[in-house]
Amino acid sequence: MKDKYNRILILTGSGISAESGLATFRSEDGLWNKHRIEDVATIEAYYKNQDYVHDFYNNMKPELWNARPNEAHLAITKLQQEYPAEVNIITQNIDTLHEKAKSKNVYHIHGQINQAVCMNCGHVLETWSDVTSETQCANCSTIGMMKPNIVFFGENLLYMDKVEKLLHTSDLFISIGTSGQVFPAAGFVQTAKYYGADTVEFNLEPTSNNFYFDKHIMGKASQTIPKFVEELIQKIKGS
Ligand code: APR
Repeated sequence: MKDKYNRILILTGSGISAESGLATFRSEDGLWNKHRIEDVATIEAYYKNQDYVHDFYNNMKPELWNARPNEAHLAITKLQQEYPAEVNIITQNIDTLHEKAKSKNVYHIHGQINQAVCMNCGHVLETWSDVTSETQCANCSTIGMMKPNIVFFGENLLYMDKVEKLLHTSDLFISIGTSGQVFPAAGFVQTAKYYGADTVEFNLEPTSNNFYFDKHIMGKASQTIPKFVEELIQKIKGS
């Protein structure tokens, strides 16, 4: 591990928001143990029953609206503010806890809950209100073409041009609270490593792609991330 980094790239998964009271996907009480992916997270499901899919995401909005960032989110903001390097965040999460923690450079590669996209003209609507098959696009006036701006399984990720650049040019890659089971995000560590980054994984337990990580820090993110950030900052101050 280096003493100083110039460009830090952080990948977050639902585990970073677990201590803010939000469900992860694959834990025992995870979302995918309560709902079938085929019913709510594929484009086929959307075309088959739009309002069933809209209801699923509309019903998530109040909880995500009320959720507060935890110490892990806040520590990342501290790193951005106090560490002399560019710090970027690529998140798989559709919650807005990084933004609520006042972090910047946040890229929602799987979309976000408070957006819908018009399948006709591509216009993105930012709203915490319900979106339905009756919603009219503010840009092209089409009705019934607004889809939750969530990347469904099989769809292309968002911001991938930016993400590729960051994976090729970052010298520290940090993964927080993701099981590493969903590609292409699960492959990011390999790319970052290939381009010379030091790689660190934070989780409650070893994950399926832990082979590519130089360091594994196990424990709750709200405890491990503030400690790690403090160490990085102190190392700079000490040098
Ligand atoms: N601190 C650190 N890690 C945690 C914590 C915590 N407090 N709580 C849970 N975790 C870890 C779990 O051990 C697990 O490895 O977070 C991970 C959550 O994994 P998943 O439930 O698989 O969720 P995630 O990796 O975010 O899913 C990736 O899959 O379903 C799709 O699009 C969806 O973005 C999602 C993607």
